Amino acid sequence: MTAAIEVDDVTVHYGDVLALDRVSLSLEPGRICGLLGMNGSGKSTLFKTVLGLVPTDRGRVRVLGRDGLAARRAGLVGYVPQSEQVDWAFPVRVRDVVMMGRYGHMGGRRRARAADREAVDRALARTDLTDLADRQIGALSGGQRKRAFVARAIAQNADVLLLDEPFAGVDKRSEATIVELLLELRRAGRTLLVSTHDLAQVPTLCDEAILLQRRVIAHGPPEKVLEPDTLLEAFGMHPGEENSWTR
Ligand SMILES: Nc1ncnc2c1ncn2[C@@H]1O[C@H](COP(=O)(O)OP(=O)(O)OP(=O)(O)O)[C@@H](O)[C@H]1O
Ligand SMILES: [Mg+2]
Repeated sequence: MTAAIEVDDVTVHYGDVLALDRVSLSLEPGRICGLLGMNGSGKSTLFKTVLGLVPTDRGRVRVLGRDGLAARRAGLVGYVPQSEQVDWAFPVRVRDVVMMGRYGHMGGRRRARAADREAVDRALARTDLTDLADRQIGALSGGQRKRAFVARAIAQNADVLLLDEPFAGVDKRSEATIVELLLELRRAGRTLLVSTHDLAQVPTLCDEAILLQRRVIAHGPPEKVLEPDTLLEAFGMHPGEENSWTR
């Protein structure tokens, strides 16, 4: 079986900063994998590497058997970026952001057809954004913006989805909506790699988890990866040592 995502011995530097150190991992299709690690551990870099957005010093990435850039161009992989990494001043409406998910389905002239508009309307409805569809993306709250990017990923209908902290800053209701959507996508056979700092959520949402600290410290069933000794290695502290542990 072709892996959904395959990262083989990848190292990434930003100048002198070593962000990923000989990372290897393989995800089977139809799974939700949690990506865990401290701030600066390389999670966002790993997403960008899979998408072919940052150059690697060594190693190889495959998404459904293709290199990351080719998979992205073919619309096989969708991406919900971390909020901090989006230019919110960019003058587009929510509806336009979601429509970007359909570009891979359109021809070179990017003319939206009825099927594209229907997919966008459906995705907006699923993320409770119908009433906000004509607002500028920069005029939404943080949680609403997050939902707009989840809507874009849904409209895209990609086989592989990369979600960089989709739950950061969203309220409980939006979180529940997003969780429900992710589980539905998995039931439809999609593969999801989801970074989160909410460790408490991982056992219910994820089939497996990866603990990253520049390199892969652990990869396996959530209860294994969340064992205290493993967490100690990645975070330098035991759960319970601090009340904010699961935030
Ligand atoms: N554009 C950049 N230029 C230089 N260094 C960078 C750049 N982007 C990230 N880094 C560095 O690379 C390392 C990994 O960063 P990355 O954003 O991948 O971490 P992360 O796990 O996503 O963190 P967070 O939980 O805060 O989102 C960090 O040391 C960071 O400072
Ligand atoms: Mg990040």
